[in-house]
Amino acid sequence: MFVLGINGSPRHKGNSRYLMSLFMEEMKAKGHNTKVLDAVKLKINPCIGCGNCETKGVCIFEDDFTNIFLPAMIKADLAVISSPVYFYAFPAALKALIDRIQVMWSRKYRLKTDEFKGRIRKGVLLASGATNGKDLFDGLKLTARYFFDAADIKYESGLFYRGVDGKGEMENHPAVHEDIKKLSALF
Ligand SMILES: Cc1cc2nc3c(=O)[nH]c(=O)nc-3n(C[C@H](O)[C@H](O)[C@H](O)COP(=O)(O)O)c2cc1C
Repeated sequence: MFVLGINGSPRHKGNSRYLMSLFMEEMKAKGHNTKVLDAVKLKINPCIGCGNCETKGVCIFEDDFTNIFLPAMIKADLAVISSPVYFYAFPAALKALIDRIQVMWSRKYRLKTDEFKGRIRKGVLLASGATNGKDLFDGLKLTARYFFDAADIKYESGLFYRGVDGKGEMENHPAVHEDIKKLSALF
């Protein structure tokens, strides 16, 4: 199985990266191939809604989304997003990447290419936020679900941590190792 990690945090060695590294260690131990891409390190033009993908099935931009992210996303059997909450949404670099998935949405829903016929693709969301509100992860969950759906990926499960803010705080969370083990046992 090929597992693609999509890191949403711009913070070096932050909480999202820690969650991702724990999950990927488990996946590697199970013998899966893994690759992690940091949204903030990719040069991705924001979608301009030109509609080219809706008729031609390809994006007008030949950037890191088209050349690096998209081939990895097509290959993925499991896609994992790890991200902080930024104003109840995903951070800007990851959101730019997410909007560009419109090309896969177009292939699936407009051009009906059935590109992933016979393949079972799954998605996972790992997230943290500083506060404790009930709705803290609602924005991320909805966006991730529709991002995955555009790529013909079924949102499978997620881990959500409230009250986590400082760099490295996730590492001291009492339940995180057990949570990640349980989650990785699903795959
Ligand atoms: C620009 C910005 C916006 C944020 N917005 C929220 C927010 O709306 N709600 C919240 O609970 N935490 C918010 N946070 C806190 C982060 O979600 C939290 O610190 C998270 O654990 C950071 O993860 P990271 O280390 O992977 O970047 C925000 C942080 C930043 C820098």
